[in-house]
Amino acid sequence: MARKRSPRKTTAASEPTVAPRRAGRGAQPGQASQASQASQASQASQASQASQSRKKKPQQPLITVRHMARRDINRVWDFLKISFREVNAETVEYQRPRSKLRFEEVYEEEGIEQLLFEVEGDIVAYAECSYEVIGSDNWINPRYFEKRDMRPLFVDELAVHPEMHGRGVGSFVLEQLHHLARVHGLNHLVLEVAENNERALDWYKKRSFKKLDAAIFMACAVVTEPELLPPRELPPAREAPPPDEPNESEPSGE
Ligand SMILES: CC(C)(COP(=O)(O)OP(=O)(O)OC[C@H]1O[C@@H](n2cnc3c(N)ncnc32)[C@H](O)[C@@H]1OP(=O)(O)O)[C@@H](O)C(=O)NCCC(=O)NCCS
Repeated sequence: MARKRSPRKTTAASEPTVAPRRAGRGAQPGQASQASQASQASQASQASQASQSRKKKPQQPLITVRHMARRDINRVWDFLKISFREVNAETVEYQRPRSKLRFEEVYEEEGIEQLLFEVEGDIVAYAECSYEVIGSDNWINPRYFEKRDMRPLFVDELAVHPEMHGRGVGSFVLEQLHHLARVHGLNHLVLEVAENNERALDWYKKRSFKKLDAAIFMACAVVTEPELLPPRELPPAREAPPPDEPNESEPSGE
């Protein structure tokens, strides 16, 4: 099974280009078979309409996906700061993205895919995933998955530009990640999401993600005391003792 990412130097958008989903979805397979029972005249008219619409240019701009290139690092970094601003403000987890330096290091690492989704040259989404557990500071225990015959694609980041939420961009990103998993022979997508990132949590649950036996952050209140004692009144200086007088009872040493 190929578990390493493809070479980094990809510049052309050789990946699929997919039009954004529209509110009105296409006919379902069952409906298509019903249509086949309609009259021939109606079929001919439908076929002619379909062929006309196939020739039409798409009404909406296209979303394209490609591998991130080194020249994108600064733009993607800015994009991520905007995309996670709201989430970071509320979560106890480490802040995403961690640091510019870490982000640059990730680019150099083997086994990590960084995908950019663009509309007319603007970044609308970013996804980062890895084919194996990477880094010694990782929270993941690979044996958990091995024991359960799970071969995960680890989704390290998934973000859509705030101005593009609710337009099917995230769904397209997820579809691409499922596709990557399938072509690499991986049978699960695994990711970490903060419990109070409710929008994302609901979004994942709706898309068949289930909670794993992973760590949850816990806290209990402690009655606090300051580490340093409070100021206190300075005691007055003692009066100087009278000068020593010779003590007759003591041996003189002679
Ligand atoms: C969670 C997140 C990725 C979702 O992305 P998104 O692009 O808003 O997702 P979608 O547009 O595909 O889906 C959102 C909803 O819009 C609906 N939708 C899809 N296409 C639509 C369209 N063309 N027009 C209107 N609504 C549409 C979907 O039905 C979906 O609703 P549902 O969840 O009730 O099914 C996005 O909110 C995000 O990036 N959040 C910040 C970063 C984050 O939290 N990432 C996850 C942490 S790991």
